[in-house]
Formats: sequence, C-alpha cells, structure tokens
Amino acid sequence: MIDKNGVAAEAVLAEIRALRAADRPTHGGRLFAYVYDPAVPGLDELTAAAHRESAHVNGLDPTAFPSLLAMENALVGAAATVLGGGPGTTAPDVVGSVTSGGTESLILAVKAARDAHPEITEPRIVVPSSAHAAFAKAAHYLRVELDTAPVSPATLRPDPAAMAAAIRPETVLVVCSAPSYAHGVVDPVVEIAAAAADAGVRCHVDACFGGWTLPYLRRLGVPVPAFDFAVPGVTSISVDLHKYAYAPKGVSVLLHRDAALRAPQYFAYADWPGYTMINPVIASTRSGGPIAAAYATLRHLGDDGYLALAERTRDAVAGLADAVRGVDGLRLMAEPESTVVCFTATEGGPDLFVLVDELTARGWHTQPQLSYADLPASVHLTVTAAVAPRVAEFGPDLAAAVAAARAAGPVALPSELAALATSLTPDALTPELVAGLAAGLGLGAGAVDRMAVVNTLLDAAPSALRERLLVEFVGLLQRPTW
Ligand SMILES: Cc1ncc(COP(=O)(O)O)c(C=O)c1O
Repeated sequence: MIDKNGVAAEAVLAEIRALRAADRPTHGGRLFAYVYDPAVPGLDELTAAAHRESAHVNGLDPTAFPSLLAMENALVGAAATVLGGGPGTTAPDVVGSVTSGGTESLILAVKAARDAHPEITEPRIVVPSSAHAAFAKAAHYLRVELDTAPVSPATLRPDPAAMAAAIRPETVLVVCSAPSYAHGVVDPVVEIAAAAADAGVRCHVDACFGGWTLPYLRRLGVPVPAFDFAVPGVTSISVDLHKYAYAPKGVSVLLHRDAALRAPQYFAYADWPGYTMINPVIASTRSGGPIAAAYATLRHLGDDGYLALAERTRDAVAGLADAVRGVDGLRLMAEPESTVVCFTATEGGPDLFVLVDELTARGWHTQPQLSYADLPASVHLTVTAAVAPRVAEFGPDLAAAVAAARAAGPVALPSELAALATSLTPDALTPELVAGLAAGLGLGAGAVDRMAVVNTLLDAAPSALRERLLVEFVGLLQRPTW
C-alpha cells in the first residue's frame, strides 16, 4: 500500500475509480438505501469544492477556526427553523450541535439525558421497538437500560399508553421516531411527549431519517402529524443533513429546546497537562469538510429547492406504492406517509429474500428487513428525488422479479445449516464453525451476488445469534491487505 516512491496522482485516482466500480450505484435512482440523491445538476461539484475549502480545518477549537463555528451555527439555525424552533415559535431558545451522523446525535441525546441525572445510578430509556438500533447502541455504550414498547403489527406504531406505562423512576429519556426507518411511519409524538412531560422526563424525537422532508411534505398537503418543537414536552430532536437535506455524508444536527438541556451533552476536561478540552460531540478532531459541504448544500438548494425535491419524492413514493399494489403476492406494510415504501409478501407470495436478489439482478437495489417479533420480513425502499424519473420502469421489473422469485421458490437451507440456526447458542460458535458457515454461504471474498441464503439463515436465527453471526461474518471481511 505504501509505495516506495509514491504513486502519481492520476494513477491513484484511477485505482480508486476501479475500486468504486464494484460499488452499488450512488446515482441514477435505482438504489433504495444508504444514499440520498437529489439528482440536482452541479450539486456534487459544489459540495466537493466546499469540502476541499474546509477539509483541513479542525472543529476541535471553535476559537481557532471561526469559519466552522459560523457554518455550524447556521446549520443548527436552519435545522431548528425547519423543525418548529427559533424566533417567533414556541421554542425560541433552541440550541444544538452538529454531529457526524444520526448515531452520534442519538448517543449524545442519551448521554445528555443520562448526565442530567447523576443521582440515578441505573438510568433507563423507553423506546418503541421500531426505534433505530442506534438507541440500543447508545444504551450499550453508555450503560443505560433499554425498555422497549412493542409496535402494533397493524399500525407499526407504539401504543402511547404502553410507552407511558414503561416509564419508571429511573427513566431519563423517552423516545419516538418521526418517521421510523423500517416502515416510515410517524409515532404518536403528541401523546408520548405528554406522557414524558407528565413524568418529568425528557422526550427525544428521532427525526434523523425523515425530519427534513416531513415539514415540506406537510406544506404540499400531506397529512403529517405534529412531531416537532411545536409539540409540548419534546425536549430534543435529531435530524440528519446527510439524509434528506441531501448533504454529503458526515453531518447531522442534534437540537435541544434550550441550553440547559444541552449542557450535560458536553465533555470538558482540564485535569491533564495538555490543552484544555471541551467537546460538544463525541469526536474531538473533526474535519470541516462535511460541515462546509452541508452548508453549501443548504445554501444552494434553498427552501424552494427542498419543496420541489419533496414533491418529486412524494410522487415517486406514490408511483412505487402503486407498483407494489399492482403485483399479486405483495402487500404494503403501511400506507406510505413519508418517503418509505415498505412491503411484505402475502400468504403464498414470493420469498422476499429471493425477490430482493431478483430485483438486484435487474439493477434495483432494495433493502431486506428480517422478521421481528410478530412483524414479517419485509422489503424497504428509501425513496429519494432521484427515483422519480425511474418509477415507470420499476413496476414491470417488480412483476418480472416476483415471477422469477416464485419460479425459483424459497431458499432451501442445507439441513445442517437450518439446524444450526435454530439450535446454536451464540456462545457455541467457534471460529471453525463460523469459517465453515461462511464458506457454505459463499462469504469471505467481498461482495456476494446472491444474499438470499444468508438472509434466510439469519432470519431463521434468534436475534442474539443473528448479532453474533453478523459480527463474525463482517469480521471475516475486515482483514488487512498487504
Ligand atoms: C431514524 C434513524 N435514526 C438514526 C439513524 C442513524 O443514522 P446514521 O446512519 O447517520 O448514524 C438512521 C439511519 O438510517 C435512522 O433512519
């Protein structure tokens, strides 16, 4: 890797381009996860240039680099405005921080809630089962207990009464999603925030995913329930600019209703011989690149731009949902109310994991979701504005993929694999067993064409075993090259 004489710039870029050829296509409107593409001409060039301007600026010290502080404050102000805060609203004192992504925003929301109550020795948070996995990660990292309220298989939302009942004296935070990632539905924020407020507990609205589009969809006439700072009891909201604000990766905003709520989020340390350290977020050294790129995106697209993008996305969602309705053997998990189309198979319908592979073979990259509690496996489509011109092509390909999946039938796991999935405990997984499993599944050598076998195996396993298998499988991929 470290070449003795170094490699010429063009050759290095050629190497990167060659590596990138194996990736899923980030542009073109056929990838329904991971990437948020507005398909706005010139935006990539603008954000690359903005990133370059600030790539070497360090967010570690806002007094040394006031340019970054100014851009961060502008991003926080913009996010607060979109989400019902700021001058002239019922939340005029909103403050916030720019983080590296949704996960960091959520970890910090949990940290702020936990550290606001040092007297609670065993803090807990209440989340719906549909809350993003990053809350479980936050709970794990911060040693906070997670109390999970189930979502109804019919509405895919938690019962506010069950959320309220889960609040205990040790609860430091109650969480809801607007919308949830898996199904794209907005939780009953008004009722949940009221229950939290009654108990004197903070309430975080995770609007990381769709928080930037919901207000625009509302302006277009979509019936979006109240979810932002206009709702009494909502104490913090997260929104990812690298999702529907269409900024390049690495930027999210965590907002608090006031500065006192934010204070315990900070980490300051002066008890060592080096520089005094004050970090609002988890990272210390931070590149200014993503922040400048996000700033450029918001400035360039503007309010009208976001409204137009939301309109295109809304139309794409409607078209994709129609395509799903038009195919025998599939049903929508929920009527789309944001930017997600999520469907499952009906009785006698195609195997969804095989269907996902058939769609991939036709150039459509969808996201399989494993069965969970009383929710069936499903297929998730995150819809962005770039999808709009492709919608008409999706229906026929979906029909063809379903026909092919029906013809192929479900994956038949080799009996020894099926037995392992149901009988194995995570502790019993030895490195040899994992290596054998991975080889049997065709894993270990980079991208896998057909994922149905892997997904079928994971789907058959209980979650603790799923987690362990995922760790082992990805560990096999993450090996140094020499
Ligand atoms: C609702 C929600 N919250 C949090 C996250 C985590 O965001 P990130 O992947 O940027 O850490 C996501 C990601 O999809 C999300 O959908």
